[in-house]
Formats: sequence, structure tokens, C-alpha cells
Amino acid sequence: MALPVLLLLIPLLAIVPFVCLCRVASRRRGCRDGAPLPLSPWAIHVIGHLHHLAGALPHRAMRDLARRATARSCCSASASSPSSSPSSADAAREVMRARDLNFATRSMSRTVRLAFPSGTEGIIFAPYGEEWRQMRKVCTVELLSARRVQSFWEHEESTAAGNGGKEDLLDVLLRIQREGDLQVPITTDNIKSVVGDMLGTGSETVATVLQWIMAELMLNPRVMQKYMHLVIKETLRLHPPAPLLFPRECRSECQVLGFTVPKDAMVLVNAWAISRDPKHWDMPEEFVPERFENSKIDFKGTDFEYTPFGAGRRMCPGIAFAFVNMELILASLLYHFDWELPCGMEAADLDMTEELGVTVRRLQDLDLVPVVRVPLPSCR
Ligand code: HEM
Repeated sequence: MALPVLLLLIPLLAIVPFVCLCRVASRRRGCRDGAPLPLSPWAIHVIGHLHHLAGALPHRAMRDLARRATARSCCSASASSPSSSPSSADAAREVMRARDLNFATRSMSRTVRLAFPSGTEGIIFAPYGEEWRQMRKVCTVELLSARRVQSFWEHEESTAAGNGGKEDLLDVLLRIQREGDLQVPITTDNIKSVVGDMLGTGSETVATVLQWIMAELMLNPRVMQKYMHLVIKETLRLHPPAPLLFPRECRSECQVLGFTVPKDAMVLVNAWAISRDPKHWDMPEEFVPERFENSKIDFKGTDFEYTPFGAGRRMCPGIAFAFVNMELILASLLYHFDWELPCGMEAADLDMTEELGVTVRRLQDLDLVPVVRVPLPSCR
């Protein structure tokens, strides 16, 4: 499917469940085995909760709904396909740690299936089970381990120098397929989907974060050279490229913070809302990288007020790869160039509006002027 069509479909992935399903929520709002269903905003017949999402991106609209409900989570429910969006660190901890196994499968709505016809063959949308476990292990150990991350960089360098030799991502998968000593054999479709997952997720997320970083640096030049690692962390807090993480599904009915989450409910953890929650963050809307300086809070999946990479079994396996990439690219950009706004433009004119695509990226292109500081050796 062409990428532009995919881009158009992605917003629907988050919205569709809210559109068609929630009309019976109020009918079912009662108790289930003593525990109520999560609070649900008022719904209109046929369109369900669509009107609550109009005019704002889903993560923003869902945060506002959760606030208005003054509840720890916000949920829409129907007989055929309920959905829930935890918007607090406590609820996220329940979903991604205490009951992680119960939420370890992905939700494949009809829309997701349409957009990703071979989606379940890879890793991102694979249902929880032996095949997913195996593909994830292959990815973690063979493709995304610290040793591999280093080796891919060496491969890049040696390819650039014209003397290949090291395995790339596809070589690794084909070798594992040839060796054939896995419990579930890897098919060519698996390989195609995994490569697609890695390239798609890996490049789009990193590119999106880098654009947000550069925009925030133009707004906050005081931190430009000082705190690179912290600048990346703070950008991931304010602009997680996947603000609702990836959709999970409730495998069997369970309770989260005293609310019943029905079997098959789609769960969208609102990591964006949580990482701006004033309960956990001082000046939550401000860009302050120094906040991480003497803080133990990290994105490794144990601090539930800050989960740009998710947590638990389905957490992003590409963190090391992503971080090394972002640091290297950013270091080169900042070492070799000073960055300025185009003539006549002030920092206050920078438009920070978000747009929903595969990731939540900048609506407006970021136009900056590079001023050479340290020329590349070949340009001297
Ligand atoms: C800034 C960069 C990145 C961010 C913010 C990010 C974020 C995420 C998030 C939020 C999830 C879902 C986690 C959950 O459901 O709990 C995820 C899953 C995943 N990510 Fe990343 N990601 C990034 C980079 C990468 C890279 C570079 C790769 C690989 C090259 C990658 C591969 C994956 C895969 C394969 C999954 C699916 C894991 C599964 O379902 O078991 N990601 N990522």
C-alpha cells in the first residue's frame, strides 16, 4: 500500500474504535463482578465518541477527556470492541507491569489489518505467542544488541569505504532462516515483515525526534552544546513520537485500579499525557533538559511517568539502536554547524504544531540555516 494512503489511515487506527463502538458504553457502565467499567464520556448513537476527538489529535483529546472525567483512566466500551486509554502513571504501571502478560498482545482492528496486510508476520503487530517471542528474541539478540548496534555502524563505515564484509540486517535474517534451528521456522514473509518493521519504525521515530530536538534547541539555545543526552531525554518527554504507544489488547477480563477492563478491549496507554502530568513533573510544559541531570528517571520501562519506548514485554527493543543513532546524528549536526533561523524569523515564530502521521511529527517543515563551524575533513 502506498505510503501516503498509509499515512491517511494511521489516524483512523486510533479513532475508529472510538467512533463505532462506544455508543453502548453508558448502557454498560454498571458494575461487573463488583468492579465498574472505566468512566466513559457521553456518546452519540452511531458516531459514538467521535465528537470528543474532533479538532484535536487523539492523544490530546484523550488526555482532556480523562481530565474531565477526573478519573485515573478513560474508557469507551461496546459489546463488539471496547477500548481504553490509561492516562496516569498508576494505570500505565498496572497495564505494563502488574498485568503485563494480560496486555501483551497487540490489537488488530480491521483498520490496522487493512493498513498492514502482512502485519502479524513481523514483530510489531504479531499476536502474543511463540512466534512473536521467537522473532523478538532474534531481533533483540541478533539485530539490536549493543554488540550488533556497534557492528552495524562498522558495516556502514566499511561500506562507505568500499570494503563490505560485515552482515547487515537482511544477511542476519537470511542466515538464521538457512540455519533453520528455530522451534518455529522463519518464513520469507516473516523476513519481509521484520525488515519492514525495523526500517519503518526505526527510521521514522528517530527522524521525528531529531526534528523536534532541533526545533526545541532553536527555542532554547542555552542548552545547545551543553546537555546533549539530556536534550534527547527531554525531547522524548515532550514529544514522544508514538504518544499512545502501540495498541495493546486485553487477553482476558481483568481489573485495573478497581475498574473492569473487558476481554478484547483495545488499550492505548497515553504516554504523552503521563509525561506531562503535573503530578509528576515540575513545569511540565516547559523544555528543561536539566530536570534529568540529577534524576534517576529513565525511559527503560521502570518509571511509569516516563515511557516513550513503552514498558513490559512489548517494550521497544530498539532503544540502544535509536539512542546511538540520535546521539551520533545530533553530535555531528551540532559539532560541524551552528544553526540559525532564516533571516527575519524569531524563535517565537516557530510553529510547534503537531501532525499525525506514522508518528506525531511537526506539521510545518523545520527550515534552519547551517553555518559551518568545523568543516568536514574532506571539505577543508
Ligand atoms: C526514538 C526512537 C524510538 C521510539 C520513541 C520508539 C518507541 C516505540 C514504542 C512506544 C513501541 C511500543 C511499546 C509498547 O507497546 O509498550 C515500540 C515498539 C517497537 N519498536 Fe521502537 N521506538 C524507537 C526506535 C526504534 C528502532 C530504532 C527500532 C529498530 C531498529 C525499533 C523497533 C521496534 C519494534 C520491533 C517494536 C515492536 C516490539 C514488540 O511489539 O514486541 N524502534 N517502539
